[in-house]
Amino acid sequence: MKIAILGGTGEQGPGLALRWARAGEEVIIGSRQREKGERVATELNQELGKALLRGTDNASAAAAAEVVVLTVPYSAHVSTLATVQEQLKGKIFVDVSVPLDPENPRRVIMPPAGSAAEEAQQILGAEVKVVGALQNVSAHLLRDVNATIDCDVLVCGADKDARLTVMQLIERLGIHALDAGPLEAARLIEPITALLIRLNIRHKVHSAGIRITGLPT
Ligand SMILES: NC(=O)c1ccc[n+]([C@@H]2O[C@H](COP(=O)([O-])OP(=O)(O)OC[C@H]3O[C@@H](n4cnc5c(N)ncnc54)[C@H](OP(=O)(O)O)[C@@H]3O)[C@@H](O)[C@H]2O)c1
Repeated sequence: MKIAILGGTGEQGPGLALRWARAGEEVIIGSRQREKGERVATELNQELGKALLRGTDNASAAAAAEVVVLTVPYSAHVSTLATVQEQLKGKIFVDVSVPLDPENPRRVIMPPAGSAAEEAQQILGAEVKVVGALQNVSAHLLRDVNATIDCDVLVCGADKDARLTVMQLIERLGIHALDAGPLEAARLIEPITALLIRLNIRHKVHSAGIRITGLPT
């Protein structure tokens, strides 16, 4: 699977990139600046000991991939989507965004669409299979590629096949994925991150996550 990670140069992107590359997926790091994408890919390849990743600008990364993951701050959500709208047509788009309150990351300010993922679907239109996922996973744990990630990732989206594809990709990261149904579930999933940030601060860790119990395996 060819996976582009837009804004893959920050906190959340590199851990995803390293874990997917190690699992044999083809990963392209996207950035606003091609040179920065290339530089971060080179640094991550050095860490892997193999040239498994490549970097470029966001639009070229989105054009080359089958699955496109967005990991930019929520403040850049709408503006970044506008730069890749054409390249996303017919593809699976995974929105990791959480609309945290810029004044207080222990809170969210949900957009009028209901959630960041639903906002993306409104902007991108029905031709793009928007899936919400990975919003509740700690960047710190992802980046420690040998760490076991003891949590569930809730996956939602209108297209069942797209949800299943993304769930399989999440399992390739070494994380348990759960089908949370339609995209509307994102308005419940995204705020959990603010709760996890609250718990991280209170307990002085970077690793809080969620585990759902009581479901059939
Ligand atoms: N960090 C976490 O633990 C975590 C956990 C769960 C979910 N999330 C969510 O994942 C998303 C990314 O979080 P992050 O911590 O990885 O963010 P980040 O490190 O602050 O930024 C990621 C990348 O976004 C690009 N970017 C920054 N400002 C931008 C702007 N104004 N316009 C366009 N691109 C911009 C930058 O890439 P270039 O300069 O290369 O373009 C940057 O390297 C957020 O929505 C966050 O809520 C984060």
